[in-house]
Amino acid sequence: MLVSLASLLLSCTKAPTPYSWSLPHNVPIPLVPEDNPMTEEGVALGEALFFDRALSVNQTLSCADCHQPALSFAESQKVSVGANGEALKRNALALVNVAYNASFTWAHNNLESIEKQILIPLFNEHPIEMGVTGNESEILRRFSTIEYKALFKAAYGDERASMNTIVKALASYVRSLVSFNSPFDDYAYAGNDQALTKQQIKGLNLFFSERTECFHCHGGINFTQSSKHSFQAFSVQPFHNTGLYNEDGKGSYPLSDVGLYAITHNKRDMGKFRAPTLRNIELTAPYMHDGSIATLEEVIDFYARGGNYAEMPNPYRSPFIKGFTITEEEKAALVAFLQSLTDQTFTKMHKRPEKK
Ligand code: HEC
Ligand code: HEC
Repeated sequence: MLVSLASLLLSCTKAPTPYSWSLPHNVPIPLVPEDNPMTEEGVALGEALFFDRALSVNQTLSCADCHQPALSFAESQKVSVGANGEALKRNALALVNVAYNASFTWAHNNLESIEKQILIPLFNEHPIEMGVTGNESEILRRFSTIEYKALFKAAYGDERASMNTIVKALASYVRSLVSFNSPFDDYAYAGNDQALTKQQIKGLNLFFSERTECFHCHGGINFTQSSKHSFQAFSVQPFHNTGLYNEDGKGSYPLSDVGLYAITHNKRDMGKFRAPTLRNIELTAPYMHDGSIATLEEVIDFYARGGNYAEMPNPYRSPFIKGFTITEEEKAALVAFLQSLTDQTFTKMHKRPEKK
């Protein structure tokens, strides 16, 4: 069945179908690079590749092993582990609405596209994630099955796999992972007053209050200030030091991960990270760039005490991290609000394909 479908696809050379986004009226279509237009066929190929362990050197690791669909494409361990067992320093980011990101990874100001970001897991050597470097031709050979030939042909008009088309297809798939169907969206944009509970509305008001300041860094349609789309005149790339560490009472972060400072070598950027989206946040524990906070309640406790080591001076900590008092009841309401950002249709829609 698969084979005959594949040969049917191989025999025709029709142009790929433009991708149809299904987005609510309040949400802009993401900006897409001109040299990698969104097509149904590109996304379908990207999906097959995303779940395929053949993409890693020893065929043990797929993108989806670190980015699990049921967890909003994050994972439940503190930090990721690469194909040869080496631990990375960071927690796997959820892949939700990445199409709207103004920057990629937890802290980088100079990776301008998903296409560029994907080169990291594929080709990184220190530490190895998927270990493609030096093994390109062997890995490409694995994608010359009749099924893949049909998929590559349909997406890019050439049945032969190349690293270039692999990266393009993966980027298209990642770009297609959009989620705007949570109870919060239903309440705020679809006008359904019943979509949130009283407790969640109380939490919503706390989230958008000057007391907690959450919205300052986690605002906008994607619950992060760091976003880019056609409704926005220019793209901004804010990074913040939340005071998660303060090793020496002078604001230093552990040498293993100093955030944006590692990229810019500008002291001002010590411990600065991107505020990630809070969509589907209930599914993506543990939290923060190193997975060092286990639960949402503890995240709120962390902000309420003004970051860690708040009593020690810290020249880098954002002025919005100033600490606040919050009752147990209010904390529960804030957590309930964060849970209203969970989009059940998103995790149901995106699953590991049956075969593989
Ligand atoms: C070994 C685990 C692992 C594998 C395999 C992996 N990733 Fe990741 N991914 C991560 C981690 C960890 C981060 C955060 C990296 C950082 O901040 O430096 C990340 C970040 C990303 C981001 C950036 C998201 C954002 O919001 O900025 C994208 C996109 C991404 N990965 C896509 C992929 C794709 C596509 C693949 C397969 C080719 C893949 N990843 C394979 C662990 C992994
Ligand atoms: C000054 C900007 C700022 C403010 C204010 C802020 N955050 Fe954050 N938030 C961040 C940054 C930056 C990170 C990532 C920090 C890191 O990993 O080191 C983060 C991480 C998080 C995470 C973990 C995300 C993940 O994927 O692991 C949660 C949850 C969160 N914030 C919720 C909140 C809530 C709730 C509030 C209000 C009480 C709040 N934030 C206030 C900037 C901010």
